[in-house]
Amino acid sequence: MSSIMNLGAYNLLALGLALFPALTSSSPIIPYYFQAVDVSRAITSKQVESDLGKALSQGTLIFGPSSRAFANATERWNTRSMPADIQVVIEVAQESDVAKVVKYCYQNSIDFLAYTRGHGSTSTVSKFRGIEINLSKLTEITIQPDNKSALLQGGVYADLVIKTIWNEGYIAATGSNGCVGFFGPALGGGLGRYQGQYGLISDNFVSLNVVLANGTAITVNAASNSDLFWAMKGAGHNFGIVTSGYIKIYPKKADTWHYHNYVWSQDKLEKVFAALNKFQGTGQIPTLMGVNFGQFSIEPNISRTEAVIIWSFAYDGPAADAEKLLVSFNAIPAISSTKGDVSYSELLVAQQTDINSASCSSQPYVGSNTWLQTYNITSQRKIYNLFNQQIAKNPGLAPGARVFFEGYSSKTTQLIDHASSSYPHRDEYLLVFFAVATPPDLETFSRSWADKTLAIWRAGQPSRRPATYVNYAVGSEPLESIYGYDGQLPRLRALKSK
Ligand SMILES: *[C@@H]1O[C@H](CO)[C@@H](O)[C@H](O)[C@H]1NC(C)=O
Ligand SMILES: *[C@@H]1O[C@H](CO)[C@@H](O)[C@H](O)[C@H]1NC(C)=O
Ligand SMILES: *[C@@H]1O[C@H](CO)[C@@H](O)[C@H](O)[C@H]1NC(C)=O
Ligand SMILES: *[C@@H]1O[C@H](CO)[C@@H](O)[C@H](O)[C@H]1NC(C)=O
Ligand SMILES: *[C@@H]1O[C@H](CO)[C@@H](O)[C@H](O)[C@H]1NC(C)=O
Ligand SMILES: *[C@@H]1O[C@H](CO)[C@@H](O)[C@H](O)[C@H]1NC(C)=O
Repeated sequence: MSSIMNLGAYNLLALGLALFPALTSSSPIIPYYFQAVDVSRAITSKQVESDLGKALSQGTLIFGPSSRAFANATERWNTRSMPADIQVVIEVAQESDVAKVVKYCYQNSIDFLAYTRGHGSTSTVSKFRGIEINLSKLTEITIQPDNKSALLQGGVYADLVIKTIWNEGYIAATGSNGCVGFFGPALGGGLGRYQGQYGLISDNFVSLNVVLANGTAITVNAASNSDLFWAMKGAGHNFGIVTSGYIKIYPKKADTWHYHNYVWSQDKLEKVFAALNKFQGTGQIPTLMGVNFGQFSIEPNISRTEAVIIWSFAYDGPAADAEKLLVSFNAIPAISSTKGDVSYSELLVAQQTDINSASCSSQPYVGSNTWLQTYNITSQRKIYNLFNQQIAKNPGLAPGARVFFEGYSSKTTQLIDHASSSYPHRDEYLLVFFAVATPPDLETFSRSWADKTLAIWRAGQPSRRPATYVNYAVGSEPLESIYGYDGQLPRLRALKSK
């Protein structure tokens, strides 16, 4: 632990403080921030360069809209949730630069937004105006001498963490998609294929190096700023920029994961969801079956009018053990089925969540999502039928339209003390979402489709309150559904105002 405490540099993370301003709605405003200058004035890269340039480390880039690099700097995964007005981009070369930039922003009443990989997809991002702090150069990953944790800098992303740590014989809880930043999803809890074994990504935080809104760099862990540690494990995007963090790592057990992907035609829908409900009970997905992903999508080589049901299972261990759990799925005749045994990074390719997969490409998504306990088969059929009806009306949307299902094993996630973090959804089991890449003229059509899909899911479990994974929130959900109904919000608001 000693190395954790004497870290001199401040490292960093994903979405910025300005993003989820809703928490401050009933809180007092920090006077200094708002009184310093007229916030409406334009900020230019020239001004920032002259004010701040000398203080920042060599290799840091400061540029504005006239730079050739600017188009890339404003790129986002969901091109419908773009920050409205990035005036200046600062690409920091060292962790210590982050505190300097934030302090400058604080003193000059400039909003700032930390960026790692640009997957922030909520509409609240689109209100942003100010300075983007790009953390992408902060990519160091250092396994600690005790081999029990690794120090990750704030700009690392899942693919880099997975490959680096796996090659040393270890694994770490990360998000399941290779292109997504590490700390972005982690600060919202952080689901992933290892959560059944090791808990959420944020359950594996040992200590975080955080820059607060006023530019003060602090250490956040169970012993130091423990209230903030609680908050940052679930609602972390609201509280600071993580410049780096110590994360638990574990010796890898099996050398390979087994995957089995099925494609079924729609007449098997009821059988597939009945088998899934039996297989996963209510939050009882077998621990080593790290994830099962499913989707409804149009595959043009099968049918242009009828979506197929695609399901992909991933098991941390050998084929023989995995296939014992898949007997009932093997019994449902499939259009096609493929399986194999691969390393963890190759598994991302097999499940199409690797960095080169279509899921990583930028698209103008319209969507909705929710948590479920089990699949209501009647609702699943309604959502499926709606999908085909909507495609019939606008066949051009087919290539970018998906209903997606994520079932992570969750035993350890459920067992971890609920009071240890602000993450509110340990008792939610299936994450489902709808997304359709939509040109501007079809936005109303797609919005209505997304809303209807969500309404069917909600009506399918009438006794439950809405529940939303913060990392998938689209921006219109009630805050309680995102941050919890059990007193989390008042506690988070009190901390935020502090
Ligand atoms: C923009 O990004 C693309 C792809 O990553 C890269 O090839 C190109 O050189 C970048 N352009 C600039 C001006 O940095
Ligand atoms: C962030 O910086 C990286 C590394 O220089 C660059 O490739 C990327 O395009 C930048 N992205 C944004 C959004 O600034
Ligand atoms: C950590 O792993 C390295 C490399 O495998 C090894 O040399 C070292 O002895 C290990 N340290 C401990 C404390 O187990
Ligand atoms: C920054 O904010 C923190 C938390 O409120 C506070 O403890 C610290 O003193 C502030 N730093 C400065 C320089 O004002
Ligand atoms: C349809 O095309 C996809 C992608 O090109 C391919 O992976 C799949 O095997 C094909 N399915 C059939 C039934 O040919
Ligand atoms: C399934 O959803 C329907 C509405 O589509 C609802 O009437 C029914 O009660 C739900 N079943 C269960 C078990 O909740």
